[in-house]
Amino acid sequence: MAYYVTTPIYYVNAEPHLGHAYTTIAADVLARHMRQRGEDVFFLTGTDEHGEPVALAAERLGTTPRELADRNAVRFRDLARQVDATNDFFIRTSDEQHVAAVQEVLSRVERGGHVYLGTYEGRYCPRCADFKTEGELIDGNRCAIHKIELALEREENYFFRLSAFQEPLERLYAERPGFVRPENRYNEALSFIRQGLNDISLSRSQLTWGVPVPWDERHVFYVWFDALLNYYTALTYARPGEDLSERFWPATVHVMAKDILKFHAVIWPALLMAAELEVPKHLFVHGYLLMEEEKMSKSLGNVIDPFQVMELYGTDALRYYLMREVSFGQDGSVSTEGFETRYTTELANEYGNLASRTLAMVARYRDGIVPEGEPPDALAGDFDGLAERVGERFDAVAVTAALDEIWRLVRRLNQYAQDEAPWQLAKDDDAAERLDQVLYALAEGLRVVTVLLHPFVPKSAERLLAALGDEDLSLDRAQFGAGGGGTRIGELPPLFPRVARAAAA
Ligand code: MSP
Repeated sequence: MAYYVTTPIYYVNAEPHLGHAYTTIAADVLARHMRQRGEDVFFLTGTDEHGEPVALAAERLGTTPRELADRNAVRFRDLARQVDATNDFFIRTSDEQHVAAVQEVLSRVERGGHVYLGTYEGRYCPRCADFKTEGELIDGNRCAIHKIELALEREENYFFRLSAFQEPLERLYAERPGFVRPENRYNEALSFIRQGLNDISLSRSQLTWGVPVPWDERHVFYVWFDALLNYYTALTYARPGEDLSERFWPATVHVMAKDILKFHAVIWPALLMAAELEVPKHLFVHGYLLMEEEKMSKSLGNVIDPFQVMELYGTDALRYYLMREVSFGQDGSVSTEGFETRYTTELANEYGNLASRTLAMVARYRDGIVPEGEPPDALAGDFDGLAERVGERFDAVAVTAALDEIWRLVRRLNQYAQDEAPWQLAKDDDAAERLDQVLYALAEGLRVVTVLLHPFVPKSAERLLAALGDEDLSLDRAQFGAGGGGTRIGELPPLFPRVARAAAA
């Protein structure tokens, strides 16, 4: 089945930070898991390059929007690469094919009677690129997010008849309770719709950095229309000569944080209906990473530097920590201390040690060959249905819950090693058969959890599976007992070595 997953396209007015890494990693974990299941996956990320946020930042820096976009798009592309994201394409909204496709789709919307010329009057936040309603302001005229004063603007704009989509949207929500997840975000979006929808500006006339409105080149499209359409346009040109939209549209899941819920849950499906395109199957709205209870953002300056963490501890450690620490869908705090604790207690001590102990015992007691053995009932029972449970969690985009399921078995294996004490069995010649069984069970259990962990910690999982002599990553193989004994194990340096605290500080 086709599985199309996207991240938001990130603004190039700032440099990439942990919040961007977070969403990209989560989407990558989903994409990798679905590939293990044999699904036909397309994973998209990229950069949002038009509009005031970028134009203003360029002005402040004394450069042109295009130059700033070129410079920062590279950094976002590098971020994706460095977190080991397996995105199938990286879209830039300055791509000429994107620009042409936006013009084509929005011309169709205009021809369909969903657009009219009107006058916008209100307070617009150039940093959010958002038209604020009274209720969204603080002190009567300030942006609640950026705290800056917003001037009252009046300009001629083309408008999109969002109000006409109130009923179709309510119907969509009624028919598809899983359209927006988690449920609290579904409720939030629906109540926003039920409050009544106003038409919104489709174009800006005081800005030149954007996609020109083809029927009136004095205007450029309001950046959100240009940006949202990336999810569709990318498919039309990601593979030259091929239109992937036939294969991958509608998207399976758009992943984002709650800051851009309204655009995705209200404007986006309405726009697609107007363009006579199918609406996505799901939106998944995750929470904010908080540092000391504040939303982490560049402007607040309280940022964990993902690049530094990856350099010191490796990419897998960052991926694991972010997916594990904050329950996906909720807000949660992250900190350097929290990271170090999980790195040491979970990655190094629980998983890393289980791996090195198991390999060392197979090497020492069985000359490096995993013995043949019957899966012991107690352990087999615990593994029973594991891959299915993990799969169900992934279907619900419950990435942290999927990881929790797997980690429970990592702990179970450590307990099993402790209970069976193979180092004691090795001293007793009469216990040889039992030792075979225990070593087989540990190696096999380790293989199964590692196949399942692959989307989270791909590099480590690949190294460990290679050392275990069975590199098959497909999900069918994540069944306890699917691997036989008899494989020769290889060398494995520590997966999560101790990092000197001084270096980490
Ligand atoms: N350009 C728009 C999105 C257009 S999508 C058609 C935009 N860009 S952004 O650079 O501001 O990125 C916002 C997204 O970055 C969030 O929705 C989320 O995915 C991610 N995050 C940024 N900071 C974050 C946190 N502190 N915590 C969690 N996610 C974070 O909005």
